[in-house]
Amino acid sequence: MIDRSTVERILDAAQIVDVVQEFVPLKKRGVNFLGLCPFHNEKTPSFTVSPSKEIFKCFGCGKVGNSVNFVMEHEHLTYPEALKYLAKKYHIEVVEKELTQEELEKQNERESLLVVSSYAARQFAENLFHADEGISVGLTYFKERGFRQDTLKKFEVGYSFEKRDAFSRKALEDGYKQDFLVKTGLSIQHEDHIFDRFASRVMFPIHSLSGQVLGFGGRILKTDVKTAKYLNSPESEIYHKGKILYGIFQARKSISQEDRCYLVEGYTDVLSLHEANIENVVASSGTSLTQEQVRLIKRFTQNITILYDGDAAGIKASIRGIDLVLEEGMNVKIVLLPNNEDPDSYSKKVSNEDFLKFLKENETDFIRFKTQLLLSEANNDPVRRADLIRDVVKSIAVIPEAITRTVYIKECSTVLEVSEPILYHEVNKLRQQKSFQDRNKYPGPEDLPVPPPVIIKPVGSDAVTYYSEKEIIRLLLKFGGVEFERTISTEDGKEEMITVSDYIVREITSDDLLFDHRVCSKIFAEFRFHFDHGLIAGDKQFVKHEDPEISSLAADLLADSHELSKIWSDKQTYVETEEMKLKEIVGDAVLKFKSDKIMIRRKEIMILLEEAVKANDTEKVILLQKRYANLNVVLGLISRKLGNRILL
Ligand code: CTP
Ligand code: MN
Repeated sequence: MIDRSTVERILDAAQIVDVVQEFVPLKKRGVNFLGLCPFHNEKTPSFTVSPSKEIFKCFGCGKVGNSVNFVMEHEHLTYPEALKYLAKKYHIEVVEKELTQEELEKQNERESLLVVSSYAARQFAENLFHADEGISVGLTYFKERGFRQDTLKKFEVGYSFEKRDAFSRKALEDGYKQDFLVKTGLSIQHEDHIFDRFASRVMFPIHSLSGQVLGFGGRILKTDVKTAKYLNSPESEIYHKGKILYGIFQARKSISQEDRCYLVEGYTDVLSLHEANIENVVASSGTSLTQEQVRLIKRFTQNITILYDGDAAGIKASIRGIDLVLEEGMNVKIVLLPNNEDPDSYSKKVSNEDFLKFLKENETDFIRFKTQLLLSEANNDPVRRADLIRDVVKSIAVIPEAITRTVYIKECSTVLEVSEPILYHEVNKLRQQKSFQDRNKYPGPEDLPVPPPVIIKPVGSDAVTYYSEKEIIRLLLKFGGVEFERTISTEDGKEEMITVSDYIVREITSDDLLFDHRVCSKIFAEFRFHFDHGLIAGDKQFVKHEDPEISSLAADLLADSHELSKIWSDKQTYVETEEMKLKEIVGDAVLKFKSDKIMIRRKEIMILLEEAVKANDTEKVILLQKRYANLNVVLGLISRKLGNRILL
């Protein structure tokens, strides 16, 4: 319990601007201060701090409060925890009376777990620096690896004894409840025995933003044991591995100052970089990077440099990280270290200046990173190259700001030698699909105009042309935005890209052809409506359509196993995708659609012809015979184009 007068002293001392500024960069605006709200995702600042009123208020999300509320919200602390945080900041001594066993039980669980964790960190540090075993095993290990004592102290590194229950016993002796020891994961209960999870390991405490110990990573020192090199605290009331970054507490100031955060993989990488005078560094230790971790960094800077091992796993992790960072609207650079080096080993190998120089000289943007990486694999294989382009386009598509996307599209166009309009088209297509996915429903009016009701030809809902109609719809939904061909514009001589939808819509509408099948007709009408507005409706839009007939047909079409056809060449086997033969497939589908329509038309004429013959209307008979013959000519042309596949 914190006594009343201490609380008052803390509240008096806490200056709201001062408190907030530690987490959020603020700019003075008149009498107030302005910054980006840390409680919701925004790009233009609406988070205001008023020093005179001693409050903050966000006009975006509506969060409002005083300095204690801010710390509680921001650091996810309870009221007493926030007070203690502020007391520490303003060097106010908190007089807390010694807790009795009974009062300890009354404390809420979270606080108890924090207390146990901080006790454990102290014990482990004590072991490392002052116990014989700790010094001879743990400290010697760190010395051999070349770590300095001040770094170990800065990170509160420690050592857990070899004896299987040394820590647990000591903690129980010191009055810590078994329940909390187990809940923090420090101890493991087995029947009526209690063991240490981390026996015989060097210990890396994982701190919250404000420096509280939330969990641990423990590294085994023996090389012969068949156990994981690192063991981490299990998820608990206080430790959520996906929400915290190792080193953030020690790095936060420097991240703000340098306006950049280096992201590494391991605990020792963080320590080593600090020794190389690079303090703006955090690690995602033992998990693949999460969105929440990226947002944590975003509170301090917009710039992340991913600094992973040059091995396959490191590269894979980097690629995953890139899109997460881009999605947050942040800037990402990547540095790959020389083969078989990690930031820890490499920073020790070269001088601090050379290391920093290496980082500066080798950082690349994600396009060059992916390109270099994949081009080396792709060689001149056109399929791989296409994959690479698609891959880069996918990353560009997740960037929220249009201007940034434009810059990257230019870059991508230069590096990969693809024209900008094509890249725009692809990026926009992906973005459109993505916004559908995100909202998981038909897009609202802000994205697409609402299509008018469809006028449906009343005849033949199960017409014979159903198959060719479905195929056209399938191609539109699946490949609508994909390049069909390139032509040289007759107007300005510039190269133009014709998409699959450009081609299909033109072919069908210029001949005034109609869909007979009801659902195909609805889909085509809606597709065409968007098309006329310069948009290409994605498959997701139809799969998630509110009209169940449309959604089920769309789903059906896209689930089709048309995907791949294997082509055997002389020596290797490779898979040819539909997309590679798109021009042929689309061309054929349109021809088939047309020939089906002609055959229907021919049937209709035949009926009319019979009637005319019966009625002895010679003029009409001649006219209809001519039409019939014309249709036959066209049909003949088409079937020849289709390789005589259509039986007349
Ligand atoms: N890690 C983990 N569990 C493992 C292996 C690794 O949680 N079994 C996490 C640790 O956070 C580790 C990071 O992944 O720091 C990177 O792993 P690795 O490169 O294998 O370890 P280093 O950091 O290089 O550790 P050291 O230098 O001590 O070998
Ligand atoms: Mn290492």
